Amino acid sequence: MATSLCYAKPLKPFSLRLPQTQNPQIPTQTTQIREAETLTITGPTQLSGHVPISGSKNSSLCLLAATLLCSNSCLLHNVPTGLSDTKAMLSILRSLGAKIEFNERNKEILVNTDGVGRVEPCLEEMRKIRGGFFVIGPLLARFGEAVVGLPGGCDIGERPVDLYVRGLRALGAAVEISYFLICGNRLCKPTISHSNTEKMAGIANFCIITSDDTGLQRDGRVLAHSANGKGLVGGSFHLDFPSVGATETLMMAASMADGVTVLSNVAKEPEVIDLARFLNDSGACVYGAGSDKLLIKGKCQLRGCECYVPPDRIEAGTFMLAAAITRSLISISPVTPSHLSCLIDKLKIAGCKITRCNNDTLEVRVSAIPENVCENLRGFNVRTSPFPGFPTDLQPPTMALLTTCSGSSIVEESVFDRRLGHVRELQKLGAKIQVCGSTALVFGRETRSALHGSQLRAADLRGGVALVLAGLVAEGTTQISGIGHIGRGYENLDTKLQFLGADIKRSIAMASQL
Ligand code: EPZ
Repeated sequence: MATSLCYAKPLKPFSLRLPQTQNPQIPTQTTQIREAETLTITGPTQLSGHVPISGSKNSSLCLLAATLLCSNSCLLHNVPTGLSDTKAMLSILRSLGAKIEFNERNKEILVNTDGVGRVEPCLEEMRKIRGGFFVIGPLLARFGEAVVGLPGGCDIGERPVDLYVRGLRALGAAVEISYFLICGNRLCKPTISHSNTEKMAGIANFCIITSDDTGLQRDGRVLAHSANGKGLVGGSFHLDFPSVGATETLMMAASMADGVTVLSNVAKEPEVIDLARFLNDSGACVYGAGSDKLLIKGKCQLRGCECYVPPDRIEAGTFMLAAAITRSLISISPVTPSHLSCLIDKLKIAGCKITRCNNDTLEVRVSAIPENVCENLRGFNVRTSPFPGFPTDLQPPTMALLTTCSGSSIVEESVFDRRLGHVRELQKLGAKIQVCGSTALVFGRETRSALHGSQLRAADLRGGVALVLAGLVAEGTTQISGIGHIGRGYENLDTKLQFLGADIKRSIAMASQL
């Protein structure tokens, strides 16, 4: 496979290849984690060995949305096909009329959007993931209109869509948000429509399926069409906040707008660079990805391309934290160290030894004497921020580690306003954490095994994996329910941990455990 971890090239006629298993141990067939399952972990434990990292969830979701721009097929390799988020995105594309060939074993997906005849994706699937909302950009750009349900995804804060709405308006779209009530499965009359009050636009909790005691659920849709009836027009837009999703969606919209678009204060995440590479290899002209300004010359048509989804930097970071919290020595690949430099710096401050073994392999070692499970790690302070800052998606598992480090640490979540839900669960294991707003003060421990097993519930993806990491070092048995959240972003997590020596089992939950 190509050395540069993400590449795209114009597509030659092809067929899906036979699978080449990367790690004979880890099954290529993924068994999806379901809501009605629990994870039972017996600790404390130590890990050892090598863990292969799957393709990036957040890159895949965005690249799959971008296939809607291409007037012939796209072949994506190394897609985390076992994730429920990937499956939801494929259902969204299918609901629009896209043809999908899927090779789970070989992690290949072939998407042909020639047959797309609808501009309103299935609302049910939209509610499952945030990334589904990204399709509004390519639908508007290619078909001149879109009717898209307000996004679902992890409940980790307000998560409005005002930047998407204002950005699309800057590209010549007329955009309106209409809210409606659902009683049971009946759609009731629309409540209000917001065509001019931005910030209200898409305030998640207002729109995402919220049922109050009337049993009525509020939901909403964004209705958009090109104001000139012909198509989007190049323009300029400054993002108040470097939102990843808004940047990606506006990039896709602008890549087929008439004229030049300048987007400023954009996100610099690696996923944005992956998308720019995909678009440019599909014939677009996107300049400046990775910087805070993008210049995009619109094209009237984009062709298909072949693309390799890069490894998931958040999954890689999670396993580095698993090595640290269990005071273990493990190696991880493929990984792009520059995508994790913030975490690597913090782990080194704590006392970990991080070695680059080759181009895309990192080794994490906690102690010179591998068996020294009580090796002390020092606490450190963390403030999350957009890339290249400390990733908010690694904040929960990092907090789990800090509960086992000496000294106290301050964790400040500055990207999402309600992403400390995992604290309550970590406290059930005996962790000492005080929260004030979006800041947590974590009182560490002299030895890592000061936590003890308990029954926990995962409430979101990254908060869920933090509980798994803490369960690996807690004395006794930890049982985690609500693990469907974890299966949204981690492929084969329990199997990979088992291969590293963890005592972790997945089982169907009894009704009482759900
Ligand atoms: C992407 O979410 C990722 N999801 C998230 O990963 C990740 O946490 C986040 O970027 C930040 O890195 C996907 O790529 C599918 P944002 P996104 O828009 O795009 C505010 C995971 O665990 N904002 O950058 O939704 C928003 O409220 C997930 O894998 C507005 O105010 O994140 C938030 O506070 C969770 N108005 C901030 O920006 C808008 O219109 C960052 O959100 C849009 C966003």
